[in-house]
Amino acid sequence: GENLMVYDPGYMQTVCCTSRISYIDGDKGILEYRGYPIEELAEKSSFLEVAFLLINGELPTKMQFEKWEHKILHHTYLHTDISRMMKNFHYDAHPMGVLVSTMSAMSTFQPEQNPALLPGMDPYKDTLLMNKQIYRIMGRIITVAAYAYRNRIGRPFNEPAQELNYIENFLYMMDRLNEGNYKSHPKLVKALDVLFILHAEHELNCSTAAMRHLASSEVDVYTCIAGAAAALYGRKHGGANEAVLRMLEEIGSVSNIPSFLEKVKAGKGRLMGFGHRVYKNYDPRAIIVRKIADDVFSVCGKEPLIDIAMELEKIALTDKYFIDRKLYPNVDFYTGVIYKSMGFPTDMFPVLFTIPRVAGWLAHWKEFHADPENKIVRPRQNYIGKRTRDYIPTDKRQ
Ligand code: SDX
Repeated sequence: GENLMVYDPGYMQTVCCTSRISYIDGDKGILEYRGYPIEELAEKSSFLEVAFLLINGELPTKMQFEKWEHKILHHTYLHTDISRMMKNFHYDAHPMGVLVSTMSAMSTFQPEQNPALLPGMDPYKDTLLMNKQIYRIMGRIITVAAYAYRNRIGRPFNEPAQELNYIENFLYMMDRLNEGNYKSHPKLVKALDVLFILHAEHELNCSTAAMRHLASSEVDVYTCIAGAAAALYGRKHGGANEAVLRMLEEIGSVSNIPSFLEKVKAGKGRLMGFGHRVYKNYDPRAIIVRKIADDVFSVCGKEPLIDIAMELEKIALTDKYFIDRKLYPNVDFYTGVIYKSMGFPTDMFPVLFTIPRVAGWLAHWKEFHADPENKIVRPRQNYIGKRTRDYIPTDKRQ
């Protein structure tokens, strides 16, 4: 028979890296950023402050935060050639495809992708240069995201407005939620700020693992971000909240839930927004997201799909199939309904996940390069294919 190597499943669970950025206890449903519980940060902090915490390891002093915010808001403009390039995408190009391509193209505008242009400076060791790259990417990602949306709806690009804060600026450039005037509703700005905090970092998820792989090859950080965003684009990852909304629309009414769940339990499709590789308990982020829904509905009106989502959750949490497999709502289960109520189109949902996760990816990029012991990531495989055999001439093959 085949020379099948039996491998130790434990091998497959080897830890890929050590990190100080975020901690998850999947059984207890705990998530901490640099030791601070996600519940406290969601209630008391802001996304830009959390981004500082993730990337620099400590909460900023007032002066540190003012400098951080100023530097980031100072880097929201895109090179005109990049803006022009973005206008050349087909009108119905998926905004995530535009974002991934644009972040990669951005590397060709920066000297970091060609160290020869930086004599005597190392873009992976020189702190000043690394921070400059971090400010640039944190600033520009909201502009790239907004322009990908504006291209999608065939509208001109809104240049960043310097007087607005980070979230207000993004919404202004989207021109989506500022009701035609200059500032968006404060409740919606707050809701998006908390949603960005919840999506900023999550240990070694698929896209962050991609980020660490790419960082280890010492390709420039813009290309690393493009690669990580490409991983997040997948429907089993960052595309899940878009898939949840399509699932709720397909179910259509509360009365169709039992038949839908029977199909799922028969292995015909998945309950999107449920289950998690690490959480075998309620995703702590999902609990906070559910509370945000009521605030948003008070401004934008209740999204009817929330009733189907809540009934689906209630039934699934008492169903043996889901209980036995420890399947609970994850961060994506309610976000799609909230974003729809706020007026975002579904193909912008993974983009709304990408913006905050850039902070987590940059934290891992900086952490990886800070450790001189880190080498290029090169995992080994479990080879279970055929071993050494003789070549067969064409006329002897059947
Ligand atoms: C995110 O890694 C991260 O941290 C990601 C993330 C982050 O912040 O970065 O948290 C963000 O990606 C959240 C997850 C979003 N994805 C979805 O909601 C898609 C639906 N979820 C599933 O595809 C699934 O739960 C995964 C991919 C999230 C995790 O799956 P696992 O841990 O690989 O589990 P599995 O696929 O091996 O399934 C185990 C069992 C199987 O049943 P059996 O074969 O044992 O009978 O559970 C079943 C699966 O069929 N199962 C589901 C299910 N998820 C798992 N059955 C129905 N619906 C589901 N959603």
